Amino acid sequence: MKITIQANSGEFRFDCAASERILYAGLGQGLRLPYECATGTCGTCRGRVVQGSTLLEWHAAPGYAKLKREKGDVLMCQARPTSDCILRVPANLPPPEPASATLPRHRQARITHRHRLARDVIEIDIALSHPITFDAGQFVVLEVGGVRGGRAYSMVNYSPRSERLRFIVKQKPGGGLSDWLFGSDVTGADLELFGPLGGATFRPAERRNIVCIAGGSGIAGMLAILEHARRENYFQGHAGHVFFGVRGLADGFYLAELADHIAAASGRLRVTLALSHEPAPSHVHPQFSSISLATGMVTDVMSREMAGRYDGTVSFIAGPPPMVDEALRLLIRVARQPAAFVRYDKYT
Ligand SMILES: Cc1cc2nc3c(=O)[nH]c(=O)nc-3n(C[C@H](O)[C@H](O)[C@H](O)COP(=O)(O)OP(=O)(O)OC[C@H]3O[C@@H](n4cnc5c(N)ncnc54)[C@H](O)[C@@H]3O)c2cc1C
Ligand code: FES
Repeated sequence: MKITIQANSGEFRFDCAASERILYAGLGQGLRLPYECATGTCGTCRGRVVQGSTLLEWHAAPGYAKLKREKGDVLMCQARPTSDCILRVPANLPPPEPASATLPRHRQARITHRHRLARDVIEIDIALSHPITFDAGQFVVLEVGGVRGGRAYSMVNYSPRSERLRFIVKQKPGGGLSDWLFGSDVTGADLELFGPLGGATFRPAERRNIVCIAGGSGIAGMLAILEHARRENYFQGHAGHVFFGVRGLADGFYLAELADHIAAASGRLRVTLALSHEPAPSHVHPQFSSISLATGMVTDVMSREMAGRYDGTVSFIAGPPPMVDEALRLLIRVARQPAAFVRYDKYT
């Protein structure tokens, strides 16, 4: 099918198979369509069908909340075409990206390893049918047979071209995919992946100090960012501070990996574990003394420790939406950081 996007900045055309979501087809062909979650919750990928018809995947998607469905509004990440379509997208789209290895596409994958990191957090490794090239901080959408819809997960590992990806998954009681992943042994199970996706990426050429603010599983993309920074010897010339929010001391994970990054950064990387539901027993972690401990919500701890130190920083935020919203408020409204240097993923 032929899809025409009428944007504020002009008209764009691309092909979309009947089995494909309009957003994914456009992104895969280099179109810079607006999106955030790519999975139906945020509403950013709004388009109005002015000609043609679509099949909607998830009618109850929370992303529809602010859309006028009676006027033909669809979420492009939930709509598949049943005819040629013209969609009005109220955004300024930059010119399409040229074809390259970093454009998102579908790949097959197999789970090779699952390991429990904390009470309600697991790590899974997958092997890909075709290698992937991605930026640190990006995510992919995973789908498995028997669970309706896709779920977004941020890559934990980073290398310029990967045949294996690592993710961390926080258990959501009653959640379709996390229940499946936490359930019986899933090693060897096949899944489908679409990506890489997301713009909350580390760009070493910006040469700015890094601030990472992570709630729980939000630490995933931060580890990829630290890995990329380490490969570039980035902390020889720049500083970094990771704020990692968990409920209590026993809920921390990947602390050995974080301590290893601190040791490699010759004093230019700090990590603070913020405990929201119990007082920090000391100033430093009892087992990993290079990791500081603090009491409070990770956003409050960040705001306290970063006061007066924001100049020349780029901030990355990931975790539950209320935490991300509070971090955005503190960074953009209170600390007056330019939005271009505040990047986030809401784990909806
Ligand atoms: C950019 C981004 C990155 C993320 N990274 C991580 C991460 O690294 N680690 C992590 O633990 N979590 C991450 N999440 C959250 C993750 O995607 C899931 O929402 C979470 O794991 C809960 O999934 P679930 O299947 O257990 O819960 P569910 O409540 O079953 O589903 C959660 C999500 O799945 C989709 N969905 C549900 N039902 C349907 C349906 N019928 N049709 C279509 N879609 C449906 C929706 O997007 C919904 O919000 C991320 C989210 C985003 C947006
Ligand atoms: S990108 Fe489609 S609802 Fe978030």
